Amino acid sequence: MSNKTIIAHRGASGYLPEHTVACKAMAYAMHPDFIEQDVVLSKDKIPIVIHDIHLDTTTNVSTLYGDRRREDGRYYVIDFTFEELKTLKVHERIDISSGKAVYPNRFPLGKLRFGLHSLAEEIELIQGLNKSTGYNIGIYPEIKDPQFHRNEGMDISLIVLGILREYGYTSKKDLCLLQCFDGLELQRIRTELKCELCLVQLMELESEIKSIPHFANYVDGLGPWLGLLNVSNLMELAKEHHLFVHAYTLRAEELNNALSFDDLLYKILIKDGVDGVFTDQPDLVLNFLNRVP
Ligand code: G3P
Ligand code: CA
Repeated sequence: MSNKTIIAHRGASGYLPEHTVACKAMAYAMHPDFIEQDVVLSKDKIPIVIHDIHLDTTTNVSTLYGDRRREDGRYYVIDFTFEELKTLKVHERIDISSGKAVYPNRFPLGKLRFGLHSLAEEIELIQGLNKSTGYNIGIYPEIKDPQFHRNEGMDISLIVLGILREYGYTSKKDLCLLQCFDGLELQRIRTELKCELCLVQLMELESEIKSIPHFANYVDGLGPWLGLLNVSNLMELAKEHHLFVHAYTLRAEELNNALSFDDLLYKILIKDGVDGVFTDQPDLVLNFLNRVP
């Protein structure tokens, strides 16, 4: 049994369109420790599970609502009600300029009907499966772009914390880790909003590493981009400040100079010694951990 934490990144997103119910159910069946939810608000303030604040990279919004784009040419989740969002078809992520799939060998574009769902619906799926299977898999929500939401007159953190509370996630012993890139917002979540959940500071820049001692005042763990493990003393600083490290994102299609996915897994999980990883292919990571003593 491995002591590494495996997080299904956007679900089993290496195999089915990210953040769909099918993708989450498939992830669940692989038995990771946590399943991730990126969260953005709809016009009627419903937390929706979707990665971007935009809709055009993963849905057919332009076909159904051609006149609802903003001046920048993009379609925003926050401009649509939950009822409207439910009418959209979700597909594999595309590159907005070429219209082609970002990962061409993943689930084909245009096949089958997938949809969007709310954070509450996803929690019901995971808690329902916990009941029916006897496993105990956690949730790992990420609050997306709190400043954007504030500019639109919405307090996403307050709303998300309300949903989490409603479903019984209130303390560090509950299987819910709450993540955000915005350090000021995490600080507010801990102090002003008095959240007692485990909090995770996401990091993408080398310049953020010097702030680790400060992050330790209000979070329990760090979620660095994989590349930061190569260029810094991040792991030492994290240990010194008693913070766990969950690195993102392990993808079988992105070997980052490794010869094979196993080599990459060995480097990140064993050599660098992270405590956990976000991965699009939880089955491959779990399989690796079962083979490596
Ligand atoms: O939340 C961890 C990782 O998912 C951060 O990157 O862009 O995939 O949300 P992103
Ligand atoms: Ca995320």
